[in-house]
Amino acid sequence: MTTIEIPRPVVGDVVELIINDHRFFESLLRALRDASADRGAAREALSHALIAHGEAEESEVYPKLARKDAISGQEEHHGKKEHAKGNAALLALLECKGTSTQKFDDAVEELATALNHHIGEEEQTILNGARNDVPDATRRDLGQSWAARRNQLLDEGCGDIEKVREIVASEAELLQESESQ
Ligand SMILES: [Fe+2]
Ligand SMILES: [Fe+2]
Repeated sequence: MTTIEIPRPVVGDVVELIINDHRFFESLLRALRDASADRGAAREALSHALIAHGEAEESEVYPKLARKDAISGQEEHHGKKEHAKGNAALLALLECKGTSTQKFDDAVEELATALNHHIGEEEQTILNGARNDVPDATRRDLGQSWAARRNQLLDEGCGDIEKVREIVASEAELLQESESQ
């Protein structure tokens, strides 16, 4: 299996950095649907990139935007719930033994549904809050702290299956909330 390199920016506007990662997820989802692609490598890259991205948003971006009233506490909470859904779907994909089975294809579709929904909604709500209500210099500061946290998580192997299991277990309550809606 080859390894797909995950981009590791260190500076930039937080909105642009986050959107670039969303585009990267979409390209990996496309590879996961492609029988001629190295789907094992795409799955591994997506796991690390997605966990690092979402965890860094939750610790470095969402709370700071909420404090600046660029997003509401409810939007912040909703974003976390959607991360929990995506992480659970990611874990189901990681648990698949083979990469050319119906089970794998179904898990890819589940993950794509959760991710595409959250990516679209985040760009339409949370990121517009940052675009409209946060000055450029602050967006760069947020970009730097998000990127630093994300790179640290990547260094720690945040997308290894045992780590993803722990994260999903810690988000059980959030997941239950979204299932009861
Ligand atoms: Fe995001
Ligand atoms: Fe997010």
